[in-house]
Amino acid sequence: MKTQFTLGAVQLTLHRWPLNQPNHSLQAWDAADELILEHALPLLSLQHTEPATPLPVLVLNDAFGVLACALSASAQGTILQYSVQDSVLAQLACRHNLAQNHLSERDYKALTSLDALPDAPQLVLMKLPANHSYLAFQLAALSKVLSVNSKLVIAAKAKDITRNVLALFEQFIGPTEASLTIKKCRYISTTFDATLVRPELNFPLRWSLDDDNKTLVNHANVFAREKLDIGARFFLQNLPTVASGSTVIDLGCGNGVLSLQLLTQQPTCQLILVDESYMAVASAKATIEENMPQYVAQCRFIADDCLTQQSSDSADWVICNPPFHQQATVTTHIATQMFKDAKRVLKTGGRLRIVANRHLPYRLQLEKLFGHCQQLAANPKFVILESIKRS
Ligand SMILES: C[S@@+](CC[C@H](N)C(=O)[O-])C[C@H]1O[C@@H](n2cnc3c(N)ncnc32)[C@H](O)[C@@H]1O
Repeated sequence: MKTQFTLGAVQLTLHRWPLNQPNHSLQAWDAADELILEHALPLLSLQHTEPATPLPVLVLNDAFGVLACALSASAQGTILQYSVQDSVLAQLACRHNLAQNHLSERDYKALTSLDALPDAPQLVLMKLPANHSYLAFQLAALSKVLSVNSKLVIAAKAKDITRNVLALFEQFIGPTEASLTIKKCRYISTTFDATLVRPELNFPLRWSLDDDNKTLVNHANVFAREKLDIGARFFLQNLPTVASGSTVIDLGCGNGVLSLQLLTQQPTCQLILVDESYMAVASAKATIEENMPQYVAQCRFIADDCLTQQSSDSADWVICNPPFHQQATVTTHIATQMFKDAKRVLKTGGRLRIVANRHLPYRLQLEKLFGHCQQLAANPKFVILESIKRS
């Protein structure tokens, strides 16, 4: 894996998160990050007129910390950067890469996707998120804090800069245009127009499950925010019957759809809803609060990378509809880590039940890890698999 990043005088060692990625051709930055930094770093010295006050810099969607590290290495204490991420993994990557490059966290403040943005940032670096709902949400939030002096530096892969994307910038920020393609990426120039009349957004989105009146609450970046995922639909028909008082972990809970159903079936269970997306955790919490407020006290909502924070031998069940990509990369390594963590946190006799796309190699993985795996149900696209922790 290529780990040495060089841009002008900035030299960094950068890793993706989680460490030990199975695909060694992946690296922790791309050409769009380089383009952003080529435009942004020269602005640091131009804009900074008053060394006593750190320059407020806002960074959005830094996947593994290349933007944070390059800013920190170049600005040497003259900026205060606010880094907004929806992903626990992205935050862990940032912290890891700052530390391994001996860069202090003094000038770095991590914000989640639902935190308020700092007022009047002088400089904004933005890596485009893949999800356009989340882009609209971020642009609407930005438009409330930008000043006419704010400079925006934005880039993405050329194929991701569509007419719709540019239209969102025009609607929320102001006049916008994209550069020609440079190393398969384009740079977006946009100028804040304080007089623009901006559209109202209706996040979080709410929709109901087909045949009952339960409402799912969906923040802008949550998985399946507009309708029920087809894997989740099959899982809802095949959820376990859990004993009274069982501790159940909903791993990768998304908007909380599986937990909501489980709680309906077994109102005495103790639920732990875990996701690495802050918007997912907030959505799941709102889903339970709005539909079953009387049971919120027996639910915990945790932002975590798999089950890192969960004690060993502590759960009766783990249910999971695992992710098949990390950001833009299709991968099974997160699912693999989820299964390993599930085995660790299950009590002896505890069970992991998952829904999986038929073509994925999860049955073999679970057989290897748990010593056995049973297929409980199947349809043309999905299977329901279960393993018991024997010791
Ligand atoms: C396929 S979705 C399932 C969502 C929901 N349970 C459902 O069935 O609709 C997988 C979820 O796993 C979450 N996820 C991805 N990587 C994770 C990680 N390392 N730790 C915890 N959750 C993760 C994603 O944010 C996403 O919400």
